[in-house]
Order: sequence, then C-alpha cells, then structure tokens
Amino acid sequence: MTVKVRWGILGTANIAQAAFLPGLRAAGGRAAAVAGRDAERTRRYAQQHGIERVHTGYEALLDDPLVDAVYVPLPNALHLPWVLRALEAGKPVLCEKPLGLTAADVDTMIDASRKTGVPLWEAFVFMFRPHFAQIQSWIGDGAIGTLQAVDSHFCFALRTRNNIRLRPELGGGALYDVGCYPVHLATQLFGGAGLRAAVLADRDPTGVDAATSGVVAFETGHLLFRASLASGPDTFTRIVGSEGVITTSNPFHPGDGDDLTLQQRSRMTRVRAGDGTPSFTAQIAHIQRVVQGEEAARATAATTSRATAATLDLIRETAARDS
Ligand SMILES: NC(=O)c1ccc[n+]([C@@H]2O[C@H](COP(=O)([O-])OP(=O)(O)OC[C@H]3O[C@@H](n4cnc5c(N)ncnc54)[C@H](OP(=O)(O)O)[C@@H]3O)[C@@H](O)[C@H]2O)c1
Repeated sequence: MTVKVRWGILGTANIAQAAFLPGLRAAGGRAAAVAGRDAERTRRYAQQHGIERVHTGYEALLDDPLVDAVYVPLPNALHLPWVLRALEAGKPVLCEKPLGLTAADVDTMIDASRKTGVPLWEAFVFMFRPHFAQIQSWIGDGAIGTLQAVDSHFCFALRTRNNIRLRPELGGGALYDVGCYPVHLATQLFGGAGLRAAVLADRDPTGVDAATSGVVAFETGHLLFRASLASGPDTFTRIVGSEGVITTSNPFHPGDGDDLTLQQRSRMTRVRAGDGTPSFTAQIAHIQRVVQGEEAARATAATTSRATAATLDLIRETAARDS
C-alpha cells in the first residue's frame, strides 16, 4: 500500500478548511500539521479539522521532518517570503493564487524552485480538472474554429469588511483575489502574456480595487473580464471561436450543477462541468503522485504562472494610469 503524503498547512486559513482539506481527504492525503501565529487558535483549528499536529509559527512547520509537502494559504503579500522558505526547506509547495504580487516576485519563486529542484504549484485547481481538459480538447480539435476571445467574469459581494481582501498591505483587491482567474484562463488558452490593456478600476475607501473591468489584447485574441468584491455572485466564461462558442457557468470551481456547453452552427453539446469531487482533489492528487515519484510534475508555476503575473502587472499599471 502507498504511504500517504503528509501535508503541512501554513496559517489557519478559511480556504484551507473550506476547500483544501475536503480535497485532501478525497485525494487520500494526510493532514499532518498546521502552523499558526496564535497557539490556542491553531490548536482549536487542528482539533476541529482533524489535523494531527500543531506548530506555533510557520518556521517550525517547515523544520518538521514529518511534513512532506506544504500548502500556503497565507494573505497574498506573504506568499513570496514563505514560499521561498518552504522551497529552501526542501518541501514541495502548493501556494494559493495569486502566487505573487508582481511578475518579479513570481520570477524569484520560480528561480528558487529551479535552483532547489523542489516543485512549486499555484492553486489554480481548475487546470487539473476534467472540464478544463474537455475545453482544451474541444479547442485543440478545432470544434470552435480559431480561438478569438475569452469573456470571463468572477464577481461576488464580500460580506464583512474585516477581511484580508480589503487590506492593501496584504495584497488585497478584486484583481488579485478573483481577477487572476480570468487572466490565468486567458494566458493558458492564448499561450502567453497580454500585450495591451484598457482597464477601469473602482476603488474601495481602503485603496484596494473593489472591482476591475477591462479588455486585454493577446497575440492571438482578447480577454474581456470583470472582477468584483462588491457585486452579486456572477461567474461565467465564454470562449469564443470563429466557428463556435464554449460556455461554462462556473469555470473555476464547477460543482455538480454546473454545465459546459459547446455551441456550433446547428448543434449544441452539453456536458456536466463538475466531476463529483471537491474542487482541490485533482491538483492535490497530482502533487502527491509527484512526491511519491509516480508521475512527472506538470502545470507547475515554472510553466504556467509567469504569463499570468505579467498580465496582472499590465492590468494594474494600466488601471493606475487610466482610472
Ligand atoms: N483557490 C481558491 O479557491 C481560493 C479561495 C479563497 C482564497 N484563496 C486564497 O487563499 C489565501 C487565503 O485566503 P483566505 O480567504 O483563506 O484568508 P484567511 O481566512 O484570512 O486566511 C489567511 C491566514 O493567514 C494567516 N495570516 C498571517 N498573517 C496574517 C495577517 N497579517 N493578517 C491576516 N491573516 C494572516 C492567518 O492564519 P494564522 O493567524 O493562524 O497564522 C489567516 O488565517 C489567499 O491567497 C487567497 O487568494 C484561494
């Protein structure tokens, strides 16, 4: 029987209990340790979520020899220092999106991963799920003709103001939080970074962008996107080609009620977008097979994250100039 991969979690984050741990259980991994800034809060979190050991301070978890891989769900501005420390400690890393605040930060992390030989992934979990493989295969087979445009929204209304998303010093804001998804999808489908952009950002009183909308030109098409922390729930994506259109109600975390449709001239094909597993399962399962030497790493930060970070730089710089 294969020995289970032992995961350590940095921070008592909401996303870790809401999405990572259900995916980890479904993927057959072990929640070996959690580290937090506050000993008592971390102990309660571990007890509530069935995590085996507790560390006070993130460094202690990275020194733990009984941890094989690390999940980093810290506020965005803390990804860089803790990813670098985890890689130096020799632990493969799954880091939350967006991996870094700038392309320069992302380059630093990718360089560290190359130098240490320790793999690093950004948690765009949709890339590992069957619906994304279906989208890629429709596009690759020519089902929509020539790819022209990606139209993608990711919007929701933040319920509390006491939230890392409203703190500029922690890398808050709609573009970083949800805008990175349409951007990542577009960079993967167009195969590179955006070249030009027209962008409007609405500012929250804290200074972060409450919403950012815009259009980004790529070498072979364009992305039309909207990201908001202050709108009703709205996630959809249309992938438009010269001969057809792929539509998905929830492209990034599809559940069992979400569809994926391919509209061609006189034909509509509809398949389920969800696969009945928690959203994080497939990416965690892949990382575990890599850690166990059963599979080569794919869709790592080195191959997928740079174009997204460069496009986010372009959008932010354009918004700062034009909004
Ligand atoms: N992939 C996805 O679907 C998805 C969904 C939601 C969020 N995310 C990403 O996951 C990350 C965390 O988001 P979240 O909503 O889970 O945030 P959260 O609940 O606020 O968790 C962040 C954790 O970071 C730790 N932390 C360290 N320094 C902090 C500071 N100065 N202020 C606040 N917390 C600090 C805290 O743990 P301790 O105090 O215990 O150390 C806290 O629990 C972000 O990068 C976000 O973009 C991804």
